[in-house]
Amino acid sequence: MKTAAAIALLCQLLALDSTSVSACLTEAEIRGDAIHSSSLYRRQIGRGNKTDEGTIPIGVGDRFRDGAMTPIGIGSQVPANLTTVYNVAEIESAARALVREYNLEFFEAPFKTYENATMFGIKVPSTAAASNAGSGANFTVLLEAGIHARERGGPDHLLNFISDLLWAETHGAGLIYGGVEYTAAEVQTARTLGFVALPLVNPDGVAHDHATNSCWRKNRNPASAVPNDTLSVGIDLNRNFPPAWDYHTAMAPNTTEWTISDEASSSVFRGTAPLSEPEAQNVVWTMDLMQDLRWFLDLHSMAGMMLYGWGLDTNQGKDKSMNLLNEAYDGKRGAIPNNRAAGYVYSEYYDSEQYLAATITATSVADAMLAAGGRNYFAQQSAGLYPAPGSSADHPMFRALQDPAKGWANGFTLEFGQANEEAKCQFYPTVEMHQLNMMEAGAGFMEFLLSAAKFS
Ligand SMILES: *[C@@H]1O[C@H](CO)[C@@H](O)[C@H](O)[C@H]1NC(C)=O
Ligand SMILES: *[C@@H]1O[C@H](CO)[C@@H](O)[C@H](O)[C@H]1NC(C)=O
Ligand SMILES: *[C@@H]1O[C@H](CO)[C@@H](O)[C@H](O)[C@H]1NC(C)=O
Ligand SMILES: *[C@@H]1O[C@H](CO)[C@@H](O)[C@H](O)[C@H]1NC(C)=O
Ligand SMILES: *[C@@H]1O[C@H](CO)[C@@H](O)[C@H](O)[C@H]1NC(C)=O
Ligand SMILES: *[C@@H]1O[C@H](CO)[C@@H](O)[C@H](O)[C@H]1NC(C)=O
Ligand SMILES: [Zn+2]
Repeated sequence: MKTAAAIALLCQLLALDSTSVSACLTEAEIRGDAIHSSSLYRRQIGRGNKTDEGTIPIGVGDRFRDGAMTPIGIGSQVPANLTTVYNVAEIESAARALVREYNLEFFEAPFKTYENATMFGIKVPSTAAASNAGSGANFTVLLEAGIHARERGGPDHLLNFISDLLWAETHGAGLIYGGVEYTAAEVQTARTLGFVALPLVNPDGVAHDHATNSCWRKNRNPASAVPNDTLSVGIDLNRNFPPAWDYHTAMAPNTTEWTISDEASSSVFRGTAPLSEPEAQNVVWTMDLMQDLRWFLDLHSMAGMMLYGWGLDTNQGKDKSMNLLNEAYDGKRGAIPNNRAAGYVYSEYYDSEQYLAATITATSVADAMLAAGGRNYFAQQSAGLYPAPGSSADHPMFRALQDPAKGWANGFTLEFGQANEEAKCQFYPTVEMHQLNMMEAGAGFMEFLLSAAKFS
């Protein structure tokens, strides 16, 4: 704990004046495709002559036979078939299999995607629900994956972790993720909180990415697209959420140059309005469904980091009025470090007790992932990486500012894995990387539930 905390602090300090760290964005995107829309410019910033040969293939058919075969996780048994990534049909089929096997609830969110896909989720009820009946304390944790299409393996890791957890619970067993072991008692503890899982937030984007190997990040809504510019299709769903979506107003100038954009061809295009996209609406709808939401984790790749909020500026626990709703601070947020000469002095309020819970949770998740696979993982504040308005992970906190009755929920972005430097798309792992990622993600999810249970 102490060592990892020290590493986290160090990295946070380094990240303040380093542009080398870049969760979820490619070097090319950071250099320019967020601000230059010319397709000629974009053609020149590819990754040399690299191909995606040698990266994990996409599964063909349905290995879960329409929900008849249950996925086998990497932490509980000897897993089968982890040599291909689940295709879109298999992600739903795996979820239905878990629902069938463990008598869970499957649900569909109301807003259909542009390509008419339905976003689904599964509810894993609290084992304390019986004694808690009617208290509304049943669904406390929301886990989601697949918001960025190209971040291959995210849905697989979430579903296989759930499979591990429920198998171990049912068999009175523990779990082993590489160098990390959890006892049967810890499995029971991790099950005390009810959780909801959204394994595939961006079904259209993932289907497109699988079909084209185009390193696709966004959804597939063409509403803002211009002719003959294929990159102008789609909205970055992780820039479509309400927190500081109106970044021109909320943020200080020049603090978000490559992290959010109004240009359709950018890979960080925010869309035409906050929650303009059905996928983002579905996530918010799910949050609102959960009367007792307290913890939110959005799974991404490939930066090897557990990021806690806020994602807009540094945190402070002293001045409650210095927050995102306070218009007096419009135009001053996002300068890290503060630019006193320009008057950009701001830090987002984060209740000290919640902040402690969030940082301890993030550190223990990063620690467990490091111990699982032996690769470096560290915890840091999201804004320390880069200020990113409109993100899903800030929304659980932002909605509590807007409506305290909803209750505060700590939001996290978990970046599993590392770049595949050999591949044209660095987000496409090899088979070996995929299996290592799954082990690390399993430990991360497990630690997250244990920490949430401890603090709830
Ligand atoms: C890829 O480009 C590098 C550097 O330009 C070159 O050395 C290498 O031979 C190329 N590989 C292939 C397969 O074309
Ligand atoms: C694994 O995948 C192969 C090829 O898709 C299939 O034939 C086999 O039945 C699968 N095994 C299991 C245990 O699901
Ligand atoms: C989606 O469904 C609507 C209504 O059935 C239909 O009009 C539309 O063409 C469909 N869109 C796509 C992209 O398939
Ligand atoms: C919690 O679970 C109990 C028992 O399963 C159920 O009666 C109650 O409606 C649930 N509450 C919520 C808010 O889902
Ligand atoms: C799009 O490309 C086609 C084929 O290259 C061309 O005929 C057409 O004029 C282009 N349209 C625009 C708006 O550039
Ligand atoms: C923002 O950046 C632009 C271009 O780099 C520069 O001209 C402008 O002065 C900057 N504005 C502020 C407020 O720093
Ligand atoms: Zn991402």
